Formats: sequence, C-alpha cells, structure tokens
Amino acid sequence: MPAKPMRQNDAPASAFVTDLATIRARARQHIEDGAITASYTADRSAVIKLLNEALATEIVCVLRYKRHYFMASGLMAEAVKAEFLEHANQEQAHADRIAERIVQLGGEPDLNPDVLSKHAHAEYVEGRDLRDMVKEDLIAERIAIDSYREIIRFVGDRDTTTQRLMEDILAQEEEHADELADLLDGWTGQ
Ligand SMILES: [Fe+2]
Ligand SMILES: [Fe+2]
Repeated sequence: MPAKPMRQNDAPASAFVTDLATIRARARQHIEDGAITASYTADRSAVIKLLNEALATEIVCVLRYKRHYFMASGLMAEAVKAEFLEHANQEQAHADRIAERIVQLGGEPDLNPDVLSKHAHAEYVEGRDLRDMVKEDLIAERIAIDSYREIIRFVGDRDTTTQRLMEDILAQEEEHADELADLLDGWTGQ
C-alpha cells in the first residue's frame, strides 16, 4: 500500500521539540486524569457526549436486531435470522468498546433506558415482515454510517484513539449495510 501523503498541517518529525523531561513532568501532573494527558487537545466533554450518542445508537441497534431475530418468519427466515443475530452481537461489541472509551476519557456511559432511544441516531422500528425488517435495518445502518463519519471528522487527529475506534466500527457498519443490501437485492417471497 502506498504511504499516506502528508497533509499540509502535518508537522515533520524534526518539529517534535517537546523534550522528554517536559513530557515526564506533565505526566506527573493531573494523574487522576488517567489516560488523558496535557497533549489531549480535543474538547473532551463534546467527545464524551458524541460517544454517548453512538453508544445509544448501538444499544438501540442491538435491541432492534434481537427483536428481528426472534420475530423472523417465512421462506428466507433461517438465513436472515443468522444474519440478524450476528449483527446484534457485533453491535453489542461496538457498544462495549464505546463505553470503555467513554470511561477512559473520564466520562460515564449513559445506559439509562429512559433516554437511550432519544439519544440514539438510528431508530427502533419493529418491521411488518421479514423484508421490511431487513429494509429498516439497512436504513439504521446507513444512519449509523453517516453519523459515525461525522464523529470521526469532528474528532480528527486530536484524539486518534477515538478516531481509530470509530473508524473500526464504521468499517463494520459498512459491511452490515452491504450484507443487508445484498439480501434485499435478491429478495423473493415475504
Ligand atoms: Fe454497531
Ligand atoms: Fe451495524
């Protein structure tokens, strides 16, 4: 793979001027901040808020996929059910990783059921039949893709760990959307 071209505002290696003593001294201050050091320049509370919205989105997606998994019936149900369950488990894993990052940033994962669907970007739609469920799941994945891309853009390289986490999750949401689109494409029957 060719090397990523250097952007204009990327500093060359020679500009890495902070000496080791300064880095060590800074690390000793505010140790209660854990992984967050003075070089963290993102707006931490804004990042935590966005991550909590992503967390709510994931939990709503888990619940929707679970509902679809249990309610799936019809000719294609078996194949589609397996897909629903796999997605539900992967969304749960995304939720766990996001919650962990929120804690690392000094925040608290908001898992209050009363507010989850209000904070989530994707919706909880039950779906009338199997095809409708797949369609609603595809719509929800597309919403997640758009909003995660926004989060990645907002965080930028001021918080590369959150950026990388959300890029990983985004890649898997794109796979989910692709699989659902394939299912819809070759659809026969209910
Ligand atoms: Fe997800
Ligand atoms: Fe997904």
